[in-house]
Amino acid sequence: MTTSPLPLAQADRMANATIPVFARWFGSWQLSIERRALSLPELSQRYDRSAADWNRALDRMGFPEAYEALWRRVLREEGPAALGEGDRVLDCGVGTGALSGALARVSKSSFALDAIDISPRMLERAAVCLAESGQPVTLRQGDVCALPYADDSFDLVMTAHVLEHVVDPALALSEMVRVLRPGGWLVASVTRRSLLSMWIHLKWHTHRVAAPQAERLLRESGLCEVRSLRFEEGAVCHRLSLPCIGRKPAIDTDTRRDSL
Ligand SMILES: C[S@@+](CC[C@H](N)C(=O)[O-])C[C@H]1O[C@@H](n2cnc3c(N)ncnc32)[C@H](O)[C@@H]1O
Repeated sequence: MTTSPLPLAQADRMANATIPVFARWFGSWQLSIERRALSLPELSQRYDRSAADWNRALDRMGFPEAYEALWRRVLREEGPAALGEGDRVLDCGVGTGALSGALARVSKSSFALDAIDISPRMLERAAVCLAESGQPVTLRQGDVCALPYADDSFDLVMTAHVLEHVVDPALALSEMVRVLRPGGWLVASVTRRSLLSMWIHLKWHTHRVAAPQAERLLRESGLCEVRSLRFEEGAVCHRLSLPCIGRKPAIDTDTRRDSL
């Protein structure tokens, strides 16, 4: 695992940044409330403190099964276009490895996994959890807004419950799309805007993202074939989270089709 202190410029980027909480127009007046976002060092420390209990919390909310069902659906609907033998896969904000671990459990193809997170303790847990999958894994400490990977280098990129933490989710998404190869799929899950998720927003100072907004973010990042998928009904995570997918246009065919 590669860990290095976060560059000062990245830590400073969030120093006085705010997250919108509420905005409403009253005639020509707009009433809005914003909240200071957690800085990268604050987020990293908070996730360090949560790392030991993170998997237990995910289990309680039904995430391991929901992530597996999500991947089964993506692999059934997109087949080898989503994941082929020996493909390179990136998990952005890997946490303890729940989302990429679920892919390893349901996929028949073996793949090489890279994963990045700002929290060293979460990365330590991910190293243990992902070792069980038997796939080669490379973990790094870093910021999803400045991904340390070359353009077009991954066949599949995923991120779960990270974009809402980022002051500028469009910047993080543009990085994920940059490192995704043309024709590759991006799978992104965000905490949905709901009464149940209010405690998450209050605790973690996150964006509140509604489904149309999540799809718009993916579309504006340059992805095509964007759609929301739902986690299976019943589990708590169904009411908490919203998975979306989109594909980076393949050079030529998709760009020509989109401009028609
Ligand atoms: C809600 S947890 C989700 C973890 C995992 N994806 C999952 O589904 O269980 C968010 C993770 O994103 C990481 N994170 C938050 N902001 C980040 C950033 N700017 N760059 C990299 N990782 C970040 C946190 O350290 C944490 O591990």
